[in-house]
Amino acid sequence: MRMSPIIGHRGAARIAPENTLAGIRAAAACGVTWVEMDVILMGDGALIMHHDKTLNRCTTGKGEVLALGLADLQNIDAAKLFEKEYGDTFKGEPVPTLQEALDLTHELGMGMNLEIKMHNHPVTDLVLPVLDVLKNHPLLREGKLIISSFDHEALALCHQHSPEIPLGHLFEGLPSNWLTLTTEVNAATVHANQRKLTQKKVQEVCEAGYELYCYTVNDAQKARQLFEWGASGIFTDDPEEVKTAIDDN
Ligand code: G3P
Ligand code: MG
Repeated sequence: MRMSPIIGHRGAARIAPENTLAGIRAAAACGVTWVEMDVILMGDGALIMHHDKTLNRCTTGKGEVLALGLADLQNIDAAKLFEKEYGDTFKGEPVPTLQEALDLTHELGMGMNLEIKMHNHPVTDLVLPVLDVLKNHPLLREGKLIISSFDHEALALCHQHSPEIPLGHLFEGLPSNWLTLTTEVNAATVHANQRKLTQKKVQEVCEAGYELYCYTVNDAQKARQLFEWGASGIFTDDPEEVKTAIDDN
């Protein structure tokens, strides 16, 4: 199996601020060995871990990430959404760079599914610098790194420039040509939205010889069903919840 059956989504987004170092630590504390994190591009070329096009939803910052640079992230708190429930526990948690997230993942002995997120810029502007950072990172040598993306062109570019890096093809609903798209970029795994999956679709992917990883599963019952159908893994915001329920069964 390429990744673990339970993968912390955006770190562990229900129990720690998403796409932060605290999130990676929280996933590790739950016994999770792989995390999924999103990488995006800043206006000054910096590569940071963040999901949205803007900083508005989950940080104290404002504006489009592509219009900002690394210096603009100073004094920005990525724990905004956690203040109400967790008080000062995560206060001041920074938005990490790709390098910082990879280094911590490695230090904790974990693996990373790095999702490349495109936000209105040429694919090469993000993909090539990401590959540059990854190619000498110990996570890659140790087989603990996989790149995924919804963006087919981004995956094709990864395959062209760094064929040694394993790829996961991300889909919302599985399109009828999923196998062609997956084969075209030589992806090793298929990642799909659990809401749009049926047993038949899961079987189709498995029978074609691919591991299927499903996002985002925060319900133990659903997780159990997907594993029974043949899924290899699930991305979850709350690893403890899902893990406990699965262990109990
Ligand atoms: O990689 C799985 C999942 O993270 C894809 O969707 O929007 O949560 O990045 P999203
Ligand atoms: Mg993601």
